[in-house]
Amino acid sequence: MLNFEDDIPAAPARPAMPPMPQLQPRVAEPANPWLAPTSSPAFDKGGQGNVPPLAAENDIARRRVRVEDKLIINAKADVNQLVPFKYKWAWEKYIAACANHWMPQEVNMNRDIATWKDANGLSEDERLIVKRNLGFFVTADSLAANNIVLGTYRQITAPECRQYLLRQAFEEAIHTHAYQYIVESLGLDEGEIFNAYHEIPSIRAKDEFLLPFIDVLSDPNFKTGTPEKDQTFLKSLIAFACIMEGLFFYVGFVQILAMGRQNKMTGAAEQYQYILRDESMHCNFGIDMINQIKLEEPYLWTAEFKAELKAMFQKAVELEYQYAEDTMPRGVLGLNAPMFKEYLRFIANRRATQIGLDELFPGANNPFPWMAEMIDLKKEKNFFETRVTEYQTGGALAWD
Ligand SMILES: [Fe+2]
Ligand SMILES: [Fe+2]
Repeated sequence: MLNFEDDIPAAPARPAMPPMPQLQPRVAEPANPWLAPTSSPAFDKGGQGNVPPLAAENDIARRRVRVEDKLIINAKADVNQLVPFKYKWAWEKYIAACANHWMPQEVNMNRDIATWKDANGLSEDERLIVKRNLGFFVTADSLAANNIVLGTYRQITAPECRQYLLRQAFEEAIHTHAYQYIVESLGLDEGEIFNAYHEIPSIRAKDEFLLPFIDVLSDPNFKTGTPEKDQTFLKSLIAFACIMEGLFFYVGFVQILAMGRQNKMTGAAEQYQYILRDESMHCNFGIDMINQIKLEEPYLWTAEFKAELKAMFQKAVELEYQYAEDTMPRGVLGLNAPMFKEYLRFIANRRATQIGLDELFPGANNPFPWMAEMIDLKKEKNFFETRVTEYQTGGALAWD
């Protein structure tokens, strides 16, 4: 079993589904309050984040945020007031994420450059893995950042969660930077790598699966507040946290980290190790939000909705497996595509149960138990030993 230090247990199973309420908006707000001018009375209700007009004296008590008024979505409480805290887990993840800060240029890439230039440094199959990997990831983290900034963020009405999402968005920028930095260091063809999501079918298929979930949230007219809209939003959150960050990244992570374990491309592997730690927290934060929304709006979790989610997970496992086959036409690095079939089933089970769904593939095992050490960087010195990983901000690191 993977050791996710930041895991919270999935929401407890509910004995019976409460009846679906009437399909009416829960919050009586204009269609697009976040676009309204600051003088709009809409801002009296808190909502989307501009400065409200000065309060009249008798409004003061009404305006002060009470913990019980806070909700992950559809809250009326002022989103600009971070405290009083309700979602302490979100604030703690924000603090932990800041403590894990790292930058790509701090990782020494000299050995990777020498290996890449050496005709005998890597086999053709190993080179294919590196190029396909970067081909997926150089654009994937831009999609993740766009999804937060243009979609998810404005629907979230818990300021603690917004605070974490702002940090997460910056980490996605760091990840794009890291992949670009590897491409640049190795002198790869930028046009080829950055266009892989247009040109390589197994990468394109994963992105095409994700794009509708980004598009629906980045539509400026989209707003939560009805059960259908809230389900749409929740489904997008699950697509991103559990499938993109929780499943679609994992074939790539295993491949590059397996290379590092064999003392090849250790700079790239170190970058991936930091990215994996960040992504593990993104995934767990998303799962925390999903489970909290389930607690606050239990009527969203219908049998039909769960069936849609199950189908979504199954499709995702299929797409990620195609990607595994495409990147590893033959066995390489002690890995082969069929091992990933089992691994992806194991991970899909894990994600499904983390949000309170049944296992999709009962009995699936983890063929890569060493991945747990890779995620859990806090207890160990960096596996690749290029620097210490008990990393706190405050300046450049000295090389060992
Ligand atoms: Fe990322
Ligand atoms: Fe992420």
